[in-house]
Amino acid sequence: MKTENILVIGGTGKTGRRVAENVIQSGHNVRVVGRKTIPAFDWEDPSSYAAALKGMDRAYIVYYPDLAVPGAKEAIEKLTEAALREGLEKVVLLSGKGEREAEACEEIVANSGLNYTLVRASWFNQNFSEGAFLEFVLNGQVALPMPEAEIPFVDADDISDVVAKVLVDDRYNGQTITVTGPRKMTFGQAVEAMAAGIGKEIQFHPITIEEFKAGMKQAGLPDSYVWLFGYLFQEVLGNPDNQEISYDVEEVLGRPATDFNTYVEKTVATGIWNQDLSHTV
Ligand SMILES: NC(=O)c1ccc[n+]([C@@H]2O[C@H](COP(=O)([O-])OP(=O)(O)OC[C@H]3O[C@@H](n4cnc5c(N)ncnc54)[C@H](OP(=O)(O)O)[C@@H]3O)[C@@H](O)[C@H]2O)c1
Repeated sequence: MKTENILVIGGTGKTGRRVAENVIQSGHNVRVVGRKTIPAFDWEDPSSYAAALKGMDRAYIVYYPDLAVPGAKEAIEKLTEAALREGLEKVVLLSGKGEREAEACEEIVANSGLNYTLVRASWFNQNFSEGAFLEFVLNGQVALPMPEAEIPFVDADDISDVVAKVLVDDRYNGQTITVTGPRKMTFGQAVEAMAAGIGKEIQFHPITIEEFKAGMKQAGLPDSYVWLFGYLFQEVLGNPDNQEISYDVEEVLGRPATDFNTYVEKTVATGIWNQDLSHTV
């Protein structure tokens, strides 16, 4: 096996952290970048791209906060141009399943002249333990819109296993891999499964998208973030076509995708859900 130099953009996040660990375990060299690393990489500052890419063979691209936001297309274009200049062989782009706005960024990568694989992910399980919904779970009060949506939540471990494989396996060049979990669940069912696994009461309150956005505004979150969540609830969860299960995880890895109950079990074991919010300010 050839040892590759692999850049992981967003390498401290939910999927990037796991991809970096995975790729190191396979014996490759990894450079993790984010805004606080050396070299620093900031999506808002295209002049930071070249130093991160220098000397790398392949890259995992995690855009933040989402490929659907204004400015994403320009950033992805500049990054792929810089990657070509620095002589990278291949990139893997993390994209969102069912996000029409993200498809423009996927096309930029596909037409960049680089070898590529696109990984389109459904909503992550880890949103409840490492992301935007953790605090709701810790508080025992989960208030979310789209209660009727059936979501094939995917595990970040499955995403990272798939990414780590396709990054160094050129048989996946030019392909789009759709990663979902093995079954669909509503937010209410996900909350029930977490409550049972953690062994505490967690209430689910169905609310409207407007109520959710108003709550985010009240909490002082920036308008762009509030807009993004409104878009994701409406566009991704509002379209039944986006709720289909994909079997690509099993095809790529030769094992079934992780069930939500397994996610709950392994997360309980980490202690993440035992934090006591009453001592935080
Ligand atoms: N969550 C979901 O359900 C879901 C579903 C489908 C697709 N996605 C996609 O997943 C991506 C997020 O991936 P993730 O959840 O693995 O990451 P994450 O946990 O949200 O972490 C974000 C990462 O990006 C870095 N980052 C933040 N701002 C940055 C900036 N301005 N420049 C450079 N790096 C920056 C962070 O590091 P520093 O803070 O250290 O810079 C961190 O490593 C998004 O593109 C989203 O569209 C998410």
